Amino acid sequence: MTAIGKTAILVGKSEDIAELGRLVVDVGDRTIGIFRVQGRLYAYENTCPHQGGPVCQGKIMPKVREKIDADKKARGMVFDRSEMHIVCPWHGAEYVITTGVHAVAPDVRLTTIEVEERGGEIYVSA
Ligand code: FES
Repeated sequence: MTAIGKTAILVGKSEDIAELGRLVVDVGDRTIGIFRVQGRLYAYENTCPHQGGPVCQGKIMPKVREKIDADKKARGMVFDRSEMHIVCPWHGAEYVITTGVHAVAPDVRLTTIEVEERGGEIYVSA
């Protein structure tokens, strides 16, 4: 985790974001979504790169992947909880929460915001 320093703005308490939960806050003229995955916080601007939808307010769900058995036969689709996604509510673009990168288009990504947790409080960069 990077220390934000003097530009840190208090946006909430640690308990405001449970595991796989989120907090969406207005900071100045930006809206920021903050997520917790495996105990760690990730924050992004609430603007989808596709057409500007409120991406951080979409569904949080696991990656969906095809299950392949030992004989290399497809056995249907399964949820893979090792990679959690945020799904933009406007047109369904999916982004990996821990990276902000689009699930299938690696050159498309959310705008990352620095976030830090200290003393039971959550701070983002100004
Ligand atoms: S604006 Fe997010 S998918 Fe279109």
